[in-house]
Order: sequence, then structure tokens, then C-alpha cells
Amino acid sequence: MAPVAADRRCAAYSLPHFPQNPLRKLETSSMPTIVFIQPDGTRQEVEVELGYSVMEAATLNGIPGIEAECGGACSCATCHVHVDPAWIDKLPEMDPMEDAMLDAANDRQRTSRLTCQIEMTDELDGLTVTVVPPY
Ligand code: FES
Repeated sequence: MAPVAADRRCAAYSLPHFPQNPLRKLETSSMPTIVFIQPDGTRQEVEVELGYSVMEAATLNGIPGIEAECGGACSCATCHVHVDPAWIDKLPEMDPMEDAMLDAANDRQRTSRLTCQIEMTDELDGLTVTVVPPY
């Protein structure tokens, strides 16, 4: 039996629906989104790669009001948001350090969180937060 020509193997392998094609996942997956709402009601929806924090998504996309002065070290509270109540129970538990930082934040509410402490997952696709200006 004659060997299969290399160009024929490559053509089959590169079909988007071919299950072993490494590009298949990229073509069918999408990044989760976060909706940032400003105090004036302006909405901005951004995409973020899994594993990034909500704060990183904000700063990489120039979301006003997320200053993140400490760079995500949970020591400034300038990444404070009010999480939409529909999402608050889907977030990871708040640790004592975040809780203490929020005590010093402007306009703390029951749904307050620090965005640097929220890591994006597929389950948080569509997370909606309202920015709380730090000053
Ligand atoms: S970036 Fe400083 S507490 Fe979140």
C-alpha cells in the first residue's frame, strides 16, 4: 500500500471540524465577559481571559474609576465595585483582608467587593458590577 501523501494528511487535519485540530478549540471557545456600569449608567462590556482578575480586565480596558493603585495586592480598595445582586452568591468567599479593606472604602454596601480579588472563570461569564469611584 502506498503511503498517503503529506499534503493530503495536512488538508484533512486542518479542517476546522476535525477533532484533533488544535485550532478547533480556539474557533469554538469564547472569553467570558464582564459588564462595568459607571455611576451615570454608562455600560461597558469587556472580554477577559480565564484566570485574569476583574481588576485586570478593567485596567487593561481603561475602565474609569478602577484605579488599582496597589496593583492587586488587596491594600488600597481603589478597585471597589458593587456587584449586581444576581451575581453576589456566585463569587468566591471574601477573605478577612478584603473585608478589612472594604471597611475603609467609600460607600461600602452588602454587595461590595474588591475586583482584584475576583478571578474570572467560565461560571462568571456576564458578571455585572457598578464602579464605585474611590475619591
Ligand atoms: S487593586 Fe488595590 S485593593 Fe484591589
